[in-house]
Amino acid sequence: MDVFDELYSLETACFGNSWTSEMLRTELDCPLSVLVYEFVGEKLAAFAIGRVVVDEAELFQIGTHPDFRGRGIAKALLERFHEKTRERGALVCFLEVRSRNAAAIELYEKAGYERVSVRKDYYPDDDAIIMRKEL
Ligand SMILES: CC(C)(COP(=O)(O)OP(=O)(O)OC[C@H]1O[C@@H](n2cnc3c(N)ncnc32)[C@H](O)[C@@H]1OP(=O)(O)O)[C@@H](O)C(=O)NCCC(=O)NCCS
Repeated sequence: MDVFDELYSLETACFGNSWTSEMLRTELDCPLSVLVYEFVGEKLAAFAIGRVVVDEAELFQIGTHPDFRGRGIAKALLERFHEKTRERGALVCFLEVRSRNAAAIELYEKAGYERVSVRKDYYPDDDAIIMRKEL
């Protein structure tokens, strides 16, 4: 498996079929994209992807493979994502998260994100919480 296939397979393990492989490839080809990932041994264990536009970053997805959760990998990866976006000039980072995704919300709040608004029924089955962190 090449690195792209491994990344897509991890994305699917974390999010089901939220992105097609074409969407992932388009995102990776975009010059505004920021990708960070972590291997455990030979296995791709976690990734985070987002963008920087001028001085604003947005985190689209962060995921740790189910086999490697609860070891602080997402926490460390999120810090690396912030570092990389800061290097590209970002001063602030935004994200949206399902209101019922308690694990992700706790991860983000511990990393210093604050809730700025709620988009009611943004997902077919859930509200979205918009969060923001000064970088
Ligand atoms: C959310 C997710 C990325 C966390 O990955 P992880 O590597 O297990 O997270 P970490 O071990 O780095 O945990 C960091 C913090 O997140 C929070 N957290 C992680 N898993 C949690 C859980 N199951 N319940 C509650 N809080 C949790 C905790 O605050 C934790 O800090 P602590 O270890 O001091 O308690 C992972 O569960 C995942 O991939 N979920 C599916 C994809 C997803 O929903 N992504 C987020 C939306 S884009």
